[in-house]
Amino acid sequence: MKIQLVRQSVGAIKSRWIILGIFEDETGPPPGLAGTSVGETVDRLRVSKDVSGSSGEVTLLHDPAVSVVVVGLGKKDRLDAGTAFNAMVAATKRIAGKPREDVALLLPDVSDRAAIAEAMVEGVIVGTRGPGLRLAEPNRYPFASFSIVTTSDGDPVEADSIRRAEVIGEAVNLARDLANTPPAEKSPSRLADRIRAAAEEAGLSVEIWDADRIRAERFGGLMGVAAGSDEPPRFVILRHERGGDAPTLALVGKGVTFDSGGLSLKPSASMEDMKSDMTGAAVVASTMQAVARLGLPVNVVGYLALTENMTGGRAMKLGDVLTMRNGKTVEVLNTDAEGRLILADALSYAAEQSPGRMIDLATLTGACMVALGPQIAGLFGNNDALCEELQEVARRTGERAWRMPLDDDFKEMLKSQVADLKNIGGKWGGAITAAKFLEQFVGSTPWAHLDIAGPSWSDSDQPRRDAGGTGCFVRTLVRFIARSAQAGG
Ligand code: BES
Ligand code: MN
Ligand code: ZN
Repeated sequence: MKIQLVRQSVGAIKSRWIILGIFEDETGPPPGLAGTSVGETVDRLRVSKDVSGSSGEVTLLHDPAVSVVVVGLGKKDRLDAGTAFNAMVAATKRIAGKPREDVALLLPDVSDRAAIAEAMVEGVIVGTRGPGLRLAEPNRYPFASFSIVTTSDGDPVEADSIRRAEVIGEAVNLARDLANTPPAEKSPSRLADRIRAAAEEAGLSVEIWDADRIRAERFGGLMGVAAGSDEPPRFVILRHERGGDAPTLALVGKGVTFDSGGLSLKPSASMEDMKSDMTGAAVVASTMQAVARLGLPVNVVGYLALTENMTGGRAMKLGDVLTMRNGKTVEVLNTDAEGRLILADALSYAAEQSPGRMIDLATLTGACMVALGPQIAGLFGNNDALCEELQEVARRTGERAWRMPLDDDFKEMLKSQVADLKNIGGKWGGAITAAKFLEQFVGSTPWAHLDIAGPSWSDSDQPRRDAGGTGCFVRTLVRFIARSAQAGG
């Protein structure tokens, strides 16, 4: 998709398709469109209440020379990046089912224009990509050419901003594509190879460990989970080191390419979406890709633990004890609590490299969805400043994360009679006991954990959101990292 930023009047737009955002609390023709046929039509439809401008409402208008996608942006003073992103996904989805030559987006005249413009461009890129990766006949097409039109002179939107949004939007789509890929096509080795290709193209340095190396590095958790599968595990390290002496941010991702539950087998319905249990790893890889493509002056290292969780003849059994990378022993009492086992090794190893801060992302617990619903991530951590900054950047990006407790009494629930820890807590607070388990492996590194079991996946096709992988938190993480570049570490 060829993207350009153009400064011109509405009348000068040559595109056959225009995306026009309107506000709920405005009356009359949209600004700049008074006297035009499109402007008068919007006004008439507003008066007749056929169009309201409520957030995400999409109406198609056809004039002889131009077709307009009128999309509601809600109340003007409440427009934020999340609303802008979602509205553009909705608008784009409506017209991207066929190839389109040239589509123009009219940027609204609002405060914080650059941030809104970025979110909109990201939304358009995400909206032109669907989950139908293996359809014989595609049902979604990127626009051949996409023009972002700014008409006002105040608070200019810069081309840099648009370029950043393009890179971020494409990274979100990479994470979505990886999650949407059928599990047979993304065994740990194949997924690692695919990530290598994308990462190297972006200029990252890539290291991939095979099973022998993983065993030699004493990753007892990752080896334990992989034991039930014919497919060997992989551990991937992606490096972007362009920040000089600044401290390093470590990003750690859970990459279970299919979670059957292991011998603690999931019921079939709960297994349907478990190809997406590698989303944490996909989000880390995609974030790294964007950071590299943008050439951000930062040090970031991504660690991806990739394995299947299967029921093969050598699968770990309940009561087995694994010795983890940091020497702690873990009694396995539920093989479906596998994410924490592989993350434990990855977190220990990452912490040994002395990063300044560490963030992990994992589709870790169904309990987190019980607590927060399907669209909000659980945010845990041992460092308030890190958690607060992450939550603030997420909020401003329009992604949702909610801070959860990590009090020490939850550690009691992980006590084992035979080993240092067991891999399940009790009946209650499952997302917290899982996070508490992870905390045992981060040492004193400032660390945050995002449980993305809910927001990583959409069960159904919605106007503002496709079914399947969502690529959640790529947008937040890239901004979080860009911000640390400005702050110098
Ligand atoms: N991958 C699942 C968590 C999950 C569930 C993600 C639903 C997305 C949607 C994880 O490995 C798991 O199975 N967790 C168990 C933990 C339990 C056995 C302590 C769970 O949540 O049931
Ligand atoms: Mn599981
Ligand atoms: Zn899992």
